[in-house]
Amino acid sequence: MNGVRDIPADQLSELEAIAELAALAEQITSHDSAYHQEDAPVISDAAYDELRNRNLAIEAAFPHLIRADSPSNRVGAAATASFSKVSHVKPMLSLGNVFSEEEVVDFVEGVRRFLKELKDDPGIPLEMVAEPKIDGLSLSLRYEKGRLVTAATRGDGTVGENVTANVRTFREFPFILSGEVPDVLEVRGEVYLTKQDFQVLNARQMEAGGKVFANPRNAAAGSLRQLDTSITATRPLKMFAYAWGDVSEPIADSQWDFLQRLKGWGFDVNPLTRLCTSLSSLMDVYRDVGGQRAALNYDIDGMVYKVNRFDWQDRLGFLSRAPRWAIAHKFPAEKAQTVLNDIDIQVGRTGTLTPVAKLVPVTVGGVVVSNATLHNEDEIARKDIRIGDTVVIQRAGDVIPQVLENVRDKRPQNAVPFVMPENCPVCGSAAVRNEGEAARRCTGGLVCAAQTIERLKHFVSRGALDIEGLGEKHIIMFWEDGLLKTPADIFRLHHHLEKIQEREGWGEKSAQNLTTAIDQRRAVSLERFIYALGIRQVGQATGRLLAKQYGTYAAWREAMIAAEDLASAAYAELTGIDGIGTGVADDLTSFFAWPDNLEVLDDLAGELDITSFEAEVDTASSVAGRTIVFTGTLDSVTRGEAKAKAESLGAKVAGSVSKKTDYVVAGANAGSKAKKARELGVTILSEPDWLALIDY
Ligand code: IVH
Repeated sequence: MNGVRDIPADQLSELEAIAELAALAEQITSHDSAYHQEDAPVISDAAYDELRNRNLAIEAAFPHLIRADSPSNRVGAAATASFSKVSHVKPMLSLGNVFSEEEVVDFVEGVRRFLKELKDDPGIPLEMVAEPKIDGLSLSLRYEKGRLVTAATRGDGTVGENVTANVRTFREFPFILSGEVPDVLEVRGEVYLTKQDFQVLNARQMEAGGKVFANPRNAAAGSLRQLDTSITATRPLKMFAYAWGDVSEPIADSQWDFLQRLKGWGFDVNPLTRLCTSLSSLMDVYRDVGGQRAALNYDIDGMVYKVNRFDWQDRLGFLSRAPRWAIAHKFPAEKAQTVLNDIDIQVGRTGTLTPVAKLVPVTVGGVVVSNATLHNEDEIARKDIRIGDTVVIQRAGDVIPQVLENVRDKRPQNAVPFVMPENCPVCGSAAVRNEGEAARRCTGGLVCAAQTIERLKHFVSRGALDIEGLGEKHIIMFWEDGLLKTPADIFRLHHHLEKIQEREGWGEKSAQNLTTAIDQRRAVSLERFIYALGIRQVGQATGRLLAKQYGTYAAWREAMIAAEDLASAAYAELTGIDGIGTGVADDLTSFFAWPDNLEVLDDLAGELDITSFEAEVDTASSVAGRTIVFTGTLDSVTRGEAKAKAESLGAKVAGSVSKKTDYVVAGANAGSKAKKARELGVTILSEPDWLALIDY
């Protein structure tokens, strides 16, 4: 008897699903360890499969409830926590995504506008390398004196997992590089399984009653991140190399030349890679490779365009976590038809009511989809979507699937139009639509259980405070017990140890472990803290931009309050941050304008040690920590490049002159800002003075 319940997975309530997923995760983990580590299984293989299948069925019905520690994401007892960690000397960053030709045009124009010589002379060609975007997982290989010494996964981009022993099982792989090789060379690429090897692996797994993988990418990840390297050795993993990390000497002048060197060292470089000199040739390659996609023996999900010249890449640099010199142009999303059974309302952490389509489960691009977003009531009306309709759904990458349209001639007579509720389905408060907004929002604020729980869930999630052991199930439980209302309460849970211990499934040790895990997160970086607050539109990248601009919690708080006045210098500074527009600025200032939020914020800040932003910059530079204002037209570089350069040297670039400004760099035709600088006695630098100061 393994306790699998007989209520069909899609008929569970959300709370039941949460509870059952948690129980299954625990049961499966304990059976895995009995089987793999103690060699002493306590249930039959069939009973074990039943548990795993039940887990999969609930996950398919409630994809948004899939746990971070879901047993479906791991094979056997391979606890990934046991890999040692590797810090990447050069971070492994991600890429911005675009979906349309217009966005590619914007990207290319953005590059041309950033580099002065290209801006001034449209005749200078901008060479780009177009490479297929391989749908696998990235790997960084460190060679010292031509020998492979470490292989690491991307992890969070800064710290990855040490998978050297696994990579050593790869076949026909350049473990030793010959010819001219820098003393230190990090080669990066994408590990993948061919479609054929994936089919063979799944057939084998099915026969052996093991885990069946959803797609080649998951199979590649599961195969590489194996603690038992003898398992990895049976999986024919391959890698396409496309980038470099830490190197002891320059390796090439351009991406194209670098790729030729990689081939010379024995790495696989994707054969569909092309050097392009015009936008139309980029588009030709996109269409050509897109047309071959289905016939290729490996999965790709788009093209990556990279500025070819390394000196230009260097000058373009990065904007938060993605390079300005490269972009991913994704292929169109995969679509499928299915029946819309019902429409549920989900209440998000900012109170937005989102209609969610409950679908007859359907496979889209290898993943079973049973929920999809309908965005908002206007979209439902515009698309005329009714309950009972056959609808087209679309899934693009890891984005939440969405309902695109109805299939009119399949509409049954009894299809029911949808009416958006005017009250929050969770707390009953009025749900209102502000003028100019598409979303209806619950006005319950802190009273609304859904908002409170979603906010707390976000607060403890991986990119935010990352509190281990405090999952959704616990949050709901502590909330029901009245122990948890605001994030600050998390840090006061240790006052309630006795009450927690009394709860079913808890003991002295587990309660103690939880409060220890919480205590370990009292020191938090400003960027994580800002992200954790869950302010609308303020994601990790924006959190980082804000932390970088304001440095300390106190300065950020003060500036956000001051920025409520749209005519203030603070508002100008906020909207002057590259990557922050007026929409985000307005969400930030409205968050601070609400007294309840300030109270919650201050309470929380009192429990935490919010560490100031540490710029990854050359602190020895002459302008580190200085505030600079650029004005007028610069001769040698564009304003964008000047600003990016100053920031990479640790300076802050402001949009307006104040007493806090250290330098005003005045180009040709500098106007009122130079005048103000003179009035305030701020040092004014000419462009050559500035270039000399930063040693450019
Ligand atoms: S370049 C700084 N080139 O896509 C940019 N990435 O969405 C470094 N990927 O993390 C990445 N094929 O895992 C690059 N030809 C290619 C790629 C590629 C696949 C993956 C890679 C990266 C992710 C970003």
